[in-house]
Amino acid sequence: MDNFTIFGNPVEHSKSPQMQNAGLKSINYNGFYDKTHLEDGTKIKEVFLQKNLKGANITVPHKEDAFKNADEVKGLASKIGAVNTYIKQDNKIIAYNTDAPGFMKALEEFGEVKKAIILGAGGTAKAIAVAFNEANIETTVINRSKNRLEYFEKLGCKTSSWNNFSCETYDLVVNSTSAGLKDDNYPTPLEILEDILSNSKYAFDCIYGKLTPFLQKAKEYNLSYKDGEDMLLYQGVIAFELFTNTKATKELIEAMREGLNA
Ligand SMILES: NC(=O)c1ccc[n+]([C@@H]2O[C@H](COP(=O)([O-])OP(=O)(O)OC[C@H]3O[C@@H](n4cnc5c(N)ncnc54)[C@H](OP(=O)(O)O)[C@@H]3O)[C@@H](O)[C@H]2O)c1
Repeated sequence: MDNFTIFGNPVEHSKSPQMQNAGLKSINYNGFYDKTHLEDGTKIKEVFLQKNLKGANITVPHKEDAFKNADEVKGLASKIGAVNTYIKQDNKIIAYNTDAPGFMKALEEFGEVKKAIILGAGGTAKAIAVAFNEANIETTVINRSKNRLEYFEKLGCKTSSWNNFSCETYDLVVNSTSAGLKDDNYPTPLEILEDILSNSKYAFDCIYGKLTPFLQKAKEYNLSYKDGEDMLLYQGVIAFELFTNTKATKELIEAMREGLNA
């Protein structure tokens, strides 16, 4: 049997095991996926090997340590500097970032996006900005504090903090802040958000499972909008393809979605 896990701290809330196990069951794969609470991210490789895992996902706050400790990093992950997936291949740990392609897949039901603005400048914003960069989407990043903007400037994004923001028109606005996750905050001061929403077509919130204050405003402004469920689902589906060396079918994706919502 192949064993998989998700490393995080905290990890108790993670829905990845129920989603991944539903996928494994649906293709009759002899494997099991559990959760691993990991305090010290620098130990991730050691624990991965001790647990004799075939693959793993990595969540907050260990994605950067996972990147540093991998034997080989593939795809966009090397630009992002963070990984969420480990695979053991020929006794080496190969690392990927499936958040970025998962996010792009989740956007597919919107129309064409040529210009976007990202609210927030944390780890998720980095993955999204790199994915946008690859897709030639002109990108602006606005964040509460200035000190996280340098990465995005180097990537070629326009950047701004709240006090020097000048609004343009955008196809898409993405909330990648944690504002609205456990509180009723907007991701920017309301006048800035209203300015952005009145100049955008589509709104995406990385937070899932609730209509955040950001999405409520997007709805009020008649934007097409969606929450982060598909982003979570598709990062998992792409990781699943790597774990099992299979290609996801529609049936598999629906089984994983049911697992996620069980
Ligand atoms: N759907 C999915 O699959 C998925 C995947 C990953 C993450 N997420 C969600 O994405 C969000 C960000 O995750 P992350 O890992 O990128 O977090 P992170 O690295 O900790 O970054 C958090 C960001 O949010 C900003 N922020 C926090 N509180 C704020 C507030 N009250 N007002 C304005 N800005 C605020 C921070 O700004 P400062 O720099 O000023 O502190 C920073 O830019 C979380 O809500 C997470 O649940 C969803």
